[in-house]
Amino acid sequence: MSAALRSGRRFTGYRVAGAIAAVLLALVMAWQVYELFDGDDFTRPVVQWGVPQDGAELSGVLAGEALAARTRLQRDRFNSGPAPDADAPSLAYGDELFIVTAPLDDGAVLTGAWARPDEAAAEVARPSDRVIGISSLPYVNADLFERPFARDWRVGIADVATHLGAIAIVGFSFLLALMLAVRGRVPILHGHSDRPRVKRFGLLERMVHWMTAVSFIVLALTGIVIAYGETLIAPFSRVALGDIGWLSAWAHMMFFPSFALGVLVMAVMWTLRNLPERRDLTWLARGGGFFTDADDSPPAHKFNPGQKLVFWSAVLGGLIMVGTGVTLMFPYYWLDLGGMSWAMLTHAVIGVLLIAIFIGHIYIGTVGMEGAFWAMWGGDVDRNWAEEHHKLWVRDLEQGANRSPAE
Ligand code: HEM
Repeated sequence: MSAALRSGRRFTGYRVAGAIAAVLLALVMAWQVYELFDGDDFTRPVVQWGVPQDGAELSGVLAGEALAARTRLQRDRFNSGPAPDADAPSLAYGDELFIVTAPLDDGAVLTGAWARPDEAAAEVARPSDRVIGISSLPYVNADLFERPFARDWRVGIADVATHLGAIAIVGFSFLLALMLAVRGRVPILHGHSDRPRVKRFGLLERMVHWMTAVSFIVLALTGIVIAYGETLIAPFSRVALGDIGWLSAWAHMMFFPSFALGVLVMAVMWTLRNLPERRDLTWLARGGGFFTDADDSPPAHKFNPGQKLVFWSAVLGGLIMVGTGVTLMFPYYWLDLGGMSWAMLTHAVIGVLLIAIFIGHIYIGTVGMEGAFWAMWGGDVDRNWAEEHHKLWVRDLEQGANRSPAE
């Protein structure tokens, strides 16, 4: 029986699972694409720019609109806040608008009070950065976050980054599931070898890998709760969202030191072997030989270009995540409000990209490729696997050249 036929027959179960996963993921992706364009992600507060503080031109209609919206938002906030058992805000909760009309009699005081920051907020938003107006946001000085730049940023986070992030993660998982369904698992073409296994990673390398991997997975899952908890958990239980959200916020900070340390040690151990080479282009052009069962996969040293991509994503992406993450832990210590906003957006965007990339890495290291997992678990690999995927590395080993500390 040909090797290709053998591999096709051996992994039918994986292909069926891949097909089912692909259908489910396609449905989730369609939902996210719909959500991206439906424009109902958050209540947009009414903000009227440029209303003078002396109140001369403050129209009752305009202020009335802002107040009505403010009442709606206050109710929304109460409905969706983390503590549903808390007392309802006294003046602004219920089906009717209970807000009193009295403040409208003295619009100047009202507008002035909303526009004036308290001491802490004043430090963040220096007067020259502020725009005077009326905001419908129902908490003190929240209107500071409705400045034009901050508004763009909020739309960036809520609409673009959140939904495109979900589409990136789900879409990439969909492609992997489709690949599993259509192509099946990448087999060891010549089957398991009788020759001695080949040592691939030493104990230190494996310990560092798994410390970094566990840290990353905790950071990714807790980050997903922070970014998507409202969509994924709240519909089932708001109490659960409160508890899981609280735990996630803490765990997200507790696991960053081990992640940062792991990435640093990986950089020291593996940078030299991950430098780009001209032959990487050939490997990439041929898709690593992963898409056919032909017996001539493109040659690679210890790390092929796909693995180099994983390595550099971990090192450079990790560096950006740690840098922006520490910045978010110490708000306003070295960045102003504009800088903090960029730090948060960068953290979110690079975070979802890394999650998508590492879903691909975990796929290929487990179900995607026969024999790969053992390289990082027991530390050695089947001889045929090594020859099929890393010809040049095996050749170097045989010639005793370019030994790594693991060998
Ligand atoms: C359950 C999760 C994971 C599994 C099963 C897994 C599996 C593996 C395997 C089998 C290898 C060795 C591949 C080879 O023989 O060359 C490997 C390498 C590597 N892993 Fe992971 N890994 C996981 C998570 C992670 C995470 C979260 C990171 C980083 C944040 C990471 C970073 C790396 C790097 C940089 C390498 C070396 C380059 C490469 O081979 O791609 N891994 N992993």
